[in-house]
Amino acid sequence: MSAFVIKGGRRISGSLRVQGSKNSVLPILAATVLTEGKSVIHNCPKLSDTDGTIKILKNLGCKVIREGSSIIVDSSNISSAEIPEKLMREMRSSVIFLGAILGRMNSAVISTPGGCEIGLRPIDLHLYAMKQLGVQVEENYGKLICSAPNGLKGKKITFSFPSVGATENAVLASVTAKGTTTIVNAAREPEIIDLCDFLNKCGGEIYGAGESVITVKGKEKLFPCEYSVICDRIACATYLIAGAVTGGDVVLENTNPVHLSAVLPLLEEAGCDINIRCRAIRLKAPRRLNRIDKIITQPYPGFPTDAQAPFTTLVCVAKGTSVIVENIFESRFKHIPELVRMGAKIRMEGRVAVIDGVERLYGAEVVSPDLRGGAALVLAGLCAEGETVVNNTKFIDRGYEDFEDNLSMLNADVKRKVN
Ligand code: EPZ
Repeated sequence: MSAFVIKGGRRISGSLRVQGSKNSVLPILAATVLTEGKSVIHNCPKLSDTDGTIKILKNLGCKVIREGSSIIVDSSNISSAEIPEKLMREMRSSVIFLGAILGRMNSAVISTPGGCEIGLRPIDLHLYAMKQLGVQVEENYGKLICSAPNGLKGKKITFSFPSVGATENAVLASVTAKGTTTIVNAAREPEIIDLCDFLNKCGGEIYGAGESVITVKGKEKLFPCEYSVICDRIACATYLIAGAVTGGDVVLENTNPVHLSAVLPLLEEAGCDINIRCRAIRLKAPRRLNRIDKIITQPYPGFPTDAQAPFTTLVCVAKGTSVIVENIFESRFKHIPELVRMGAKIRMEGRVAVIDGVERLYGAEVVSPDLRGGAALVLAGLCAEGETVVNNTKFIDRGYEDFEDNLSMLNADVKRKVN
């Protein structure tokens, strides 16, 4: 177990090249299973979730090597269609392999990934999409035995909710199916576009990625390719907030400001000065932040649920009262009791949190409840008076590459302590 030890009160300043997107690299690595040969994926962040994905690829029979931020996957010989329970449990997003394994093998055995820290996270929409494409699903003792004896056939898939993972699985399972698939009420996140761009580069024929209707014309075969994943928009938002809560001045390179179109206006509402120069974003913070009237999480292009916890920290130290509504996950406020331990004034009612901004937070020993909640506590430590210890860094290491080193490069006093 390790912890981050943070001495608060330093202005975050300087420039940082932001990591590649965790939520892009996971489905794109899974997608390499659909090709036979060597794919090279660049801009892959060093994360425990990426490591978990590589373990699954190797378990399926792929040869995988990492060279710096590039990952080379040779998927010539897939020797298994099963993901062992242990690997499924290690990483909830491993369900994203379902569509890719079915597309390659016409069968797949996974265990139900189970819930996680932020909610139940059922996979009914994933299974509905697979069944639409002709997959039979048998469930016993927590195992899902999926088979398509006659192969996958294109069909219309209409989602009751624009689920990111279910959209990704629907695309992965239909890109080599017989015939055309139309995905209605598809998720529109940039990571969906990135996955479809990768698959089209492999010879797929996918139209409408980023819209709510995606058309996939099934192809006989896909071919390996070289590809670079997009920047991590949530890591971007997190580092911008580090600047915002410390009265700092931070420049982020290698970003795509368009992906933050629901985030940047809220930082300006809080009184930050935002400057965009092609792929760089500069944030200059005021001495004291203004409140943000309402933060309401929605599917993209709405405000991203993954930025909700970091923004909670921001409004904790703003002038005035802010309201946060978390519409996507049912238990994504677990960082709030930890922030209250640091002096935050927050009232919660179901999916609504009302935050009365305080002049300052105070350092304390806190526990990271999940990935983005942990990041929010580190941000709180940066602006708190005194020392903060954030335990359970394993959650944070899932999504933030070199977190303490990057923050230290931006003038923070953050050290990792192994307990
Ligand atoms: C992806 O999770 C991301 N993870 C999440 O990021 C992100 O918060 C989420 O999309 C929403 O943007 C990855 O990409 C690896 P969903 P996913 O399916 O695909 C319900 C992070 O911090 N639902 O869009 O699991 C579900 O319970 C992580 O980086 C069903 O009911 O999200 C949730 O309430 C956290 N049935 C809502 O939909 C289903 O079959 C959104 O889930 C699937 C989902």
